[in-house]
Amino acid sequence: MGERSKSKSIIFLIISILTFLSWFLIFSSTNPNRVLDYISVSESTDAPPLIIIKNSDTSPQNVAESPNPQNRGVTKTEEPINENRGCNHNKVSPLPLKVYMYDMSPEFHFGLLGWKPERNDVVWPDIRINVPQYPGGLNLQHSVEYWLTLDLLFSELPEDSRNSRAAIRVKNSSEADVVFVPFFSSLSYNRFSKVNQHQKQSQNRELQENLVKFVTSQKEWKISGGKDHVIMAHHPNSMSTARHKLYPAMFVVADFGRYSPRVANVEKDIVAPYKHLVPSYDNDTSGFDNRPISLYFQGAIHRKDGGFVRQELYYLLKEEKNVHFSFGSIQNHGVTKAGEGMRSSKFCLNIAGDTPSSNRLFDAIASHCIPVIISDDIELPYEDVLNYNEFCLFVRSSDALKKGFLMGLVRSIGREEWSKMWRRLKEVERYFDLRFPAKDGDGDDGVQMIWKAVARKVNLVKMKVHRFQRFTRPFHGNILK
Ligand SMILES: *[C@@H]1O[C@H](CO)[C@@H](O)[C@H](O)[C@H]1NC(C)=O
Ligand SMILES: *[C@@H]1O[C@H](CO)[C@@H](O)[C@H](O)[C@H]1NC(C)=O
Repeated sequence: MGERSKSKSIIFLIISILTFLSWFLIFSSTNPNRVLDYISVSESTDAPPLIIIKNSDTSPQNVAESPNPQNRGVTKTEEPINENRGCNHNKVSPLPLKVYMYDMSPEFHFGLLGWKPERNDVVWPDIRINVPQYPGGLNLQHSVEYWLTLDLLFSELPEDSRNSRAAIRVKNSSEADVVFVPFFSSLSYNRFSKVNQHQKQSQNRELQENLVKFVTSQKEWKISGGKDHVIMAHHPNSMSTARHKLYPAMFVVADFGRYSPRVANVEKDIVAPYKHLVPSYDNDTSGFDNRPISLYFQGAIHRKDGGFVRQELYYLLKEEKNVHFSFGSIQNHGVTKAGEGMRSSKFCLNIAGDTPSSNRLFDAIASHCIPVIISDDIELPYEDVLNYNEFCLFVRSSDALKKGFLMGLVRSIGREEWSKMWRRLKEVERYFDLRFPAKDGDGDDGVQMIWKAVARKVNLVKMKVHRFQRFTRPFHGNILK
């Protein structure tokens, strides 16, 4: 009796388990994804698009689970669909970047260099014959406007035989990714800010007013609300009035110190390097032992805003051995001296002045002197693709002012670690070189890196343009009351 009921209950248990399992199997096979999997398995790789598209809903886990290699073949064809939704910005970003440039009057660009067109209908110099010179000296720091414009002009010439170009000029604005506004705003600020007796306002002001009038009346601006426009404002004081009217555009800036976050910010805009004033250090074999100065700083003493740190640091460091800390701006032959000083130093201080950024950082990079950056609000060029920690040291201002902190940090970096950073500096220095023409096969220079940084913003720009266009469809009906 007991034996029989035992075996009965065992049989019952087995039956219930089997019933449960069969329900489970039926349930899972009615899962739509599974059904589609099954259909795609039975199809060849040229399965009808409908199925492929539906099957793209299959989660990656399901695809991986599928034991049939043919199924993987089918899912492969759906990769482009997934890619559009994915986040591989490099693949989605258009390269070369297609740039439409306004044919603006020379008074906004090469006219400021003293260039005069031969005929009234000529806007651009023929750079195969004559490349107008940008003024030298300190003006050059903010000359990115000049190098970008030259690169665009060059990109449409048959002489441009480069295999890889980051940007090309297109003549049809509907085919462009961005619209470039060729106003040499930094030069306009540096050279034409003075008001003489015959003028009501400076030429710089007047140019900015004319620029705003011109740009905002263009059809390209009206279509996009300006969101896809690229405007150069590298000198912190440039575009001081126009920036408040043109801020929907992407600005090319040195830093954000003198902007309100609404007008310019790191999400929307592009940080471009200063052009270094000291010469490049070719064939640098100096190394750790041939750079006797541990820490180098040369700069102006009296500065506003964040610049108080300089004064404090001077008192902290003036007694230290192997430290060069002196005040004096780098005019004319001061540049040569500063260059020599940096080449003889292991570390070079970059302390916030009246703006978070300064040319000194790029001079240090060109001299292969490891930058020590004390500037809490600094923003750096292409930091999304370049890790500055590999070749710079960052120190908070509050830490830098602690007695012994800075020298302790610098001395803690021995020959090996220093040499690694120094080698990295020599690799990355070309990304900060602004020059014309770009050399092919030499890797990206500063100009190409800036275009690529613009290209990485194109998806964001497109989104903003589409959103802007939501309510711009013309209305033809009557409003009923
Ligand atoms: C400009 O490009 C658009 C889009 O490709 C095209 O429809 C239009 O015809 C082009 N305009 C000219 C003048 O070529
Ligand atoms: C650096 O080395 C290269 C190749 O040896 C040489 O052609 C070039 O002139 C050198 N540059 C300087 C500034 O010494």
